[in-house]
Amino acid sequence: MWIFWLIFFAVIFSFGYASISGAPWVPTRKYGINRFLKVAKLKKDDVLFELGCGDGRLLVSAVREFGCRGVGIELAWPLAVIAWLRTKITKVPVVIRWADARHTSLKEATVVYMFLMPDAYLKLRPILEKSLSPGTKVISYVWPVPEWTPVLVDKEPQKEAFYVYQM
Ligand SMILES: C[S@@+](CC[C@H](N)C(=O)[O-])C[C@H]1O[C@@H](n2cnc3c(N)ncnc32)[C@H](O)[C@@H]1O
Repeated sequence: MWIFWLIFFAVIFSFGYASISGAPWVPTRKYGINRFLKVAKLKKDDVLFELGCGDGRLLVSAVREFGCRGVGIELAWPLAVIAWLRTKITKVPVVIRWADARHTSLKEATVVYMFLMPDAYLKLRPILEKSLSPGTKVISYVWPVPEWTPVLVDKEPQKEAFYVYQM
């Protein structure tokens, strides 16, 4: 019985810690994923990093559609496990890292997608500025990155916006 409680509290702690570190898990819905696929304009030689990849649904869709490389960074281990299982079940070759987006190497990325809280963007902004190469595309969903000027805002009536930035 104690094993059950141990796992239960480990899951709760992991979700709680990820929620205060960046954002709670709120997956991008199917319609949002389709919009992302249009907005991102990914190419086969792109390396898409998703900071807080949740259950991996967006990343798997993007890699399946465009044949690019995909790396998902997820802080909540139960979600990282689900995302990893998704890549195995779908046989879509996406790399899932159980890690904090603030403490992982992002330098391979050519496109970065994130759907986190504005406070998390404040902490991530200097890291992105330091580690991403010029020309890297950064796409945020729902909230803009404070003090950055987007090159494109994809807004639809009654829907959340995608903000596209170019480093
Ligand atoms: C709003 S959800 C978005 C999930 C996914 N990107 C999507 O669009 O479906 C935010 C995700 O970021 C994760 N997260 C929060 N802080 C993080 C951090 N510092 N590093 C990595 N992942 C983080 C949460 O666990 C959660 O899964």
